[in-house]
Amino acid sequence: MITKCLFPAAGYGTRFLPATKAMPKEMLPILTKPLIQYGVEEALEAGMTTMAIITGRGKRAIEDHFDISYELEHQIKGTSKEKLLKEIREIIERCTFSYTRQSEMKGLGHAILTGETLIGNQPFGVILADDLCQNDDEGVMEQMVKLYKKYQCSIVAIEEIDKAHSEKYGIVEGEMIEKGIYKLFNMVEKPHPDAAPSNLAIIGRYILTPDIFEILKETKPSKNGEIQITDALLEQAKKGKVIAYKFRGKRFDCGSVKGFVEATNYLASTSELID
Ligand code: G1P
Repeated sequence: MITKCLFPAAGYGTRFLPATKAMPKEMLPILTKPLIQYGVEEALEAGMTTMAIITGRGKRAIEDHFDISYELEHQIKGTSKEKLLKEIREIIERCTFSYTRQSEMKGLGHAILTGETLIGNQPFGVILADDLCQNDDEGVMEQMVKLYKKYQCSIVAIEEIDKAHSEKYGIVEGEMIEKGIYKLFNMVEKPHPDAAPSNLAIIGRYILTPDIFEILKETKPSKNGEIQITDALLEQAKKGKVIAYKFRGKRFDCGSVKGFVEATNYLASTSELID
C-alpha cells in the first residue's frame, strides 16, 4: 500500500507575477479550486491519505486551506453556500497533512529529499501540482499505483512531446517492456533538442521507492546548479529498475500562463458553472 504523497510547493511562481507576489502559486484557482487541491484529490483517489507538503516562506495559505475555518463555517452554516465547502471538508476529514519547509531553492531533488522526515522508509507518490492531470476514469496516480503493485519499483509518468520543447522536461530513453511501459536506461534533465535521447518527457507524477533518499544525498547539482530528481532516478535505474509509464488522460502545464488558461477553458467546458 502506498499511503503517502509528497507535494513540492516551495517555488516562487515567478511566471505568474504579480498574482503570486503575496499568494502561493499552488493556490491559484482553476475555476473555484486551487491547483494543489486537484493534486490532493488525485492522490486521495489513488488511496493516499497522508499528504506531505514541502513549503517555503509565504506559503501559509496552503496550510490554512487544508484546515477547518470555524468562523467561515459557522457563518455559512444552514445557507445555500454550505455545499461549496463540502469537497474540501471531506478532504480534511479523510487526510492528514504534514508540512516541512525547504529553506533553500536547490531543485526538485532537494525538495524531495527535504521530505524524507515526513515520508520515512516506504514507497510514496510525488505530485507536482503545476501539472494538472485529468482523466475520465482512473486518475494518473491511481493508474501508477496499480502499476507499482506489479513492478515494485520507481515509476515516472511520461508523455510524448514535440522535441523542440525538450528543454522544459526530463527526457527518458528505455526499452519497451509492455505497451506504453518502458524500462529506463537513460534520463537527461532538460536537454537541448539536439541532445534529447527521445521525445518522451517526464511529467509531474512519480512513485518513488525510499532508497531514492540515499541516492539523492549523493547526487551532485547539475542542470541549473540544482539537485535533480532525474539524475537520482538514472542512478536508481542503473542499480536496479525504474520504469516510465505513458499515462491515460490529459495534462496541462499550469506552470505556464498558456497551460493555465487551457486548463481553465477545458474544465469550464466540462463542468457545470454556477451563475
Ligand atoms: C521538473 C523536473 C522535470 C520534469 C518536470 C515535469 O521540472 O525536473 O524533469 O519533466 O518537472 O513538470 P520543473 O518543471 O520543475 O522545472
